[in-house]
Amino acid sequence: MAIEDIVIAMTGASGAPYGIRLLEVLLQAGKHIHFTLSPSAVEVVATECGRKIDLDKFNPSKFFGQFWTPILSSRFTFHNYRDFKSGIASGSFLTGGMVICPCSMGTMGAIASGISDNLITRAANVHLKERRKLVIVPRETPLHLVHLRNMITCTEAGAVILPAMPGFYHKPTSVSDVVDFVVARICDQIGVDHNLQKRWGQKEGN
Ligand SMILES: Cc1cc2nc3c(=O)[nH]c(=O)nc-3n(C[C@H](O)[C@H](O)[C@H](O)COP(=O)(O)O)c2cc1C
Repeated sequence: MAIEDIVIAMTGASGAPYGIRLLEVLLQAGKHIHFTLSPSAVEVVATECGRKIDLDKFNPSKFFGQFWTPILSSRFTFHNYRDFKSGIASGSFLTGGMVICPCSMGTMGAIASGISDNLITRAANVHLKERRKLVIVPRETPLHLVHLRNMITCTEAGAVILPAMPGFYHKPTSVSDVVDFVVARICDQIGVDHNLQKRWGQKEGN
């Protein structure tokens, strides 16, 4: 059974452009997005992308732009980070996986400790306990020992740690190219076809 529902969470680490681009690519790919974000993510999205979000009155068309309205009405569900009654808080709600992009060290620490203090950490724990794909995209530098240990713990529990570490071998010429490098790696992890950049070793025209 192909499950087209994907959970995307954004938390308060730098890297909001990665999360927003990921949402757009998944919507274009025909996925149904279940989106949640933390109050700190709201701050970072405003700082880095200039988009204001009201967590209690989220307006997808305002966030993504009118162009997306027809798609958003059928394939986008917003979940408040406090709403433990949401479907994605339960293992019985089937999904094709979850991505936390960007993921703060705080949220990663909570997941590594098995803490479910909001819908994001609860949904992450659900994905781990159900042995479903959980991709964590941390952004912090440098890292101290606890950060590194938390990454190991999450990996041992079944998560994929995919740091927001763009490569430069594809010779990016814009910030969008750099963002797409990371988003392409995420799409590969959750099995979403994309054409974001040429793959290494791929011949011209393929
Ligand atoms: C502009 C801005 C950038 C931040 N960047 C990072 C970051 O890159 N990594 C990180 O772990 N925390 C970062 N923080 C701090 C987190 O937002 C903070 O630890 C917060 O408590 C995380 O909460 P959350 O995980 O619930 O979103 C940043 C905060 C702000 C305001």
